[in-house]
This record gives sequence, structure tokens and C-alpha cells, in this order.
Amino acid sequence: MPTSDTVRIAAVSDVHYGKHSQGALQPLFTQIAERADVLLIPGDLTDYGLAEEARLLARDLTAAVKIPIVAVLGNHDYESDQSQDIADILTDAGVHVLDGDAVEVHGIGFAGVKGFAGGFGRGTLGPWGERAIKQFVQEAVNEALKLESALARLKNATRIALLHYSPIRATVEGEPAEIFPWLGSSRLEEPLTRFQVSAVVHGHAHKGSPEGKTATGIPVYNVSLPVLRAAYPDQPAFRIIEVPRPAITAESEDRRAFGRRATDREPPASRVADAPAS
Ligand SMILES: [Fe+2]
Ligand SMILES: [Fe+2]
Repeated sequence: MPTSDTVRIAAVSDVHYGKHSQGALQPLFTQIAERADVLLIPGDLTDYGLAEEARLLARDLTAAVKIPIVAVLGNHDYESDQSQDIADILTDAGVHVLDGDAVEVHGIGFAGVKGFAGGFGRGTLGPWGERAIKQFVQEAVNEALKLESALARLKNATRIALLHYSPIRATVEGEPAEIFPWLGSSRLEEPLTRFQVSAVVHGHAHKGSPEGKTATGIPVYNVSLPVLRAAYPDQPAFRIIEVPRPAITAESEDRRAFGRRATDREPPASRVADAPAS
């Protein structure tokens, strides 16, 4: 448990573990464990979406990281139709793998979903014309609905969202403009605004920008490993988000005991201001 008046949340995504990655990021994971109270990994945990790759990552995480870990899968984790195996392997290693779920750690609420593509603002793809286009758009809508239902379950004053795809354009800037629509969707922004999350972390845009804000000023961090390495070359490649440590109350203890996850299958520093009361 954190001992100070802040909870230090580390985040890094797009670790892309491959068949030869054993040990590759263990020094980074060790630094994270020494400096943070919880680790977020929002997607692209593996390179080709293979269970074998997930096993190597799970082994490195288990060896180096003794703090709670919360993750969502990314598009790469779906490449080989082994996404459920990947989720199971990481869950067995103690990782909270969220897919429209929420979990409470150190009194902070975390909601996670992969998200999807479709573009931003006025350029957002609409459900018109061919059936294939409508299905594509529906996938983005479904992911936004999953995010909404996950956030709705959280009663914590401080709520953090994990996405793989970006909910805003600002944090994909740096990528070629031609591919912006494949890097995220504005449809993900509305639930973040409605539920007044304290901060958002995402990945996927490896050449994007490290920081942005939603239209209502919610901080959004692109924590893709390549982005962090490029933006902060003199620092270890993870972001730390500091949030005020919630007081432990009888109500929060009850939530920890009974409401941790609604769909459990089994029983450079950034400071986020005090979140509004829920
Ligand atoms: Fe990636
Ligand atoms: Fe990705």
C-alpha cells in the first residue's frame, strides 16, 4: 500500500513482447516497481498476439513487479485469435485485464477497454452506406458503450480510464495525418466527459504526442513506449501520474470486498488535481 498522501500511477503501453523479448524490459519494470504504487499497461502487450509471447511478458512482470498491474489488450493482441489465451495468461499472473470492466486499486477506480478506430471530430466515420462501413462504425460505438458501462460501475472520486486507441486527435499528432482515422475515435471521448474521469492513458500511436486534453480539459496521456522514449530520452520510459490518495472509509472497504469487478471471471510526473466528488 502507498504510504504517502499520493498514489503514484505508472503507465507504459505497446511493449510488443515477441518470441525473443524475454528479459528485455525487466530493468524498466524493476524501476517502475520501485517508483510507483500501480502499473497500467494499455495494450499491445504482445507483438503478434501469441500466447507464447504473453507467457514471456507474464514471466518478466511476475519477476520484477510486485505492485498491482491493470491492463487492456491492444489490436496486436488480437492478431492471432489468441486474445482470450493472452488475457488468461496475464490474469493468472495477477494482472487485472479489463475489457469493459472496472477495478479499484488503492482507492482509485480504473475502467478499461481497447477502443477502436474511426477518426476524430468532424472527420469521424458515420454509419452510412455499405454494410461493412456500418459494421466498422458499430464496433467503435460498441467499445464506447463498454467504456461507459465500465465507468458507470465506479463510485470512486478518482477515476482513470485505460484505452488502447486514442479518444482525441491531439495525442496522435506526429503520426502521418493519413492514418489518424485508424489511431482512435472521438466516440470514446463522450463517456470520459460524462463521467468526469481524472485522467486517460492510451497507446497505439507510436509516433504520436505524449500529452493532450479532451474538449473539457481532461488530461490524456499517450504512454506508448516509443512515444515516451522519443519525448523524454533522458528518463525511463514510463509516465508517472500522481493522484491524491483517497481516504479509506467503511464504504470503500465494502466496495473492495464486494464490488471489485463487475464481470470477474473469478472471485515525467504528472499530477492530477483532486477529482470532483462522485
Ligand atoms: Fe503498438
Ligand atoms: Fe496498437
